[in-house]
Amino acid sequence: MQVLIISGSLGKRSCTRILLTYINEVLQSKNVDTIFWDLSKRALPMAIPEFHTRQEKHPNENVRKFVNDVKSADAFILGSPLYHDSYSGVLKNALDTLPNEALLHKAVGLVSHSSNVRSCVAPCNQLRPVVRSLAGYAVHLQVGTTDADYIQVGDNLMLSNPKVKERIEMLIDEIISMTSSLKSMN
Ligand SMILES: Cc1cc2nc3c(=O)[nH]c(=O)nc-3n(C[C@H](O)[C@H](O)[C@H](O)COP(=O)(O)O)c2cc1C
Repeated sequence: MQVLIISGSLGKRSCTRILLTYINEVLQSKNVDTIFWDLSKRALPMAIPEFHTRQEKHPNENVRKFVNDVKSADAFILGSPLYHDSYSGVLKNALDTLPNEALLHKAVGLVSHSSNVRSCVAPCNQLRPVVRSLAGYAVHLQVGTTDADYIQVGDNLMLSNPKVKERIEMLIDEIISMTSSLKSMN
């Protein structure tokens, strides 16, 4: 099983990225293969409608690689900061890069970070119809963090809230079990 993790923050010290890095480690500890696509490091150009149905011909190598990684993944974790009570434009652009049914019969976990309040609800809920439109299944459990869930360790931040870690375990178990149920449909 391979999970593609997509990080939708361009922030230098992004908590969304730290949250997804933790999720990546938990997945790997359960012998799940992962690809971590950090949109701040592997940027995608603005989606061009002319290539919507033929991304293999796209002139940008990152786009071709991204679409291939999506094709070969069995499941996904999408992470976004809270931006204007929604999810980030950079993540929407990545999803707009994908052809129709790119997530067909695949499980998707949604996570979010906001600095002040635990308000992952808006980004995660607003991602749900987009996942459905791409023919994927967003699992019902979602994870949201706020700054208080992290501690400073040297120069870095680390996820520290045990309750959030517990929720991440539950999210991952749900993704793994849903992926195995959906396998028969693919
Ligand atoms: C464009 C933009 C819009 C934002 N909108 C909101 C908002 O509506 N509500 C809020 O509480 N925080 C908002 N924030 C703050 C971010 O949620 C916060 O900085 C968060 O830590 C960003 O996640 P990151 O650390 O993963 O980059 C916004 C930040 C930016 C840059």
